Amino acid sequence: MPKVTYQLPDGTTHDLEVPCGQSVMDGSVRNNLPGIVAECGGGCSCATCHVYLEEGVSFFDEPTDEERELLEFAEDARPNSRLSCQLILTEACSGVRVTVPDSNG
Ligand code: FES
Repeated sequence: MPKVTYQLPDGTTHDLEVPCGQSVMDGSVRNNLPGIVAECGGGCSCATCHVYLEEGVSFFDEPTDEERELLEFAEDARPNSRLSCQLILTEACSGVRVTVPDSNG
């Protein structure tokens, strides 16, 4: 199972193993980590699953137009912003690190 490191707004980090085929958002929500709210349940329509993806990562699909448009309205969006429900994990993703902003609530 791919390992995902979540850096939370309080500065703590959590290493989780998340099954392939699940999203970075799923891993957080199913393990009750705070910060990724995921109001729409992964439907790419709320942007409360906003994360910052570590630089240089190329193993996720590029964001769709829908995701890009939502991110334009996300608070504190940066060039490496992604919606974590759209980051689907494969073995190649193991070791990926995401930072959860303090603004998803
Ligand atoms: S959970 Fe709503 S956009 Fe990701």
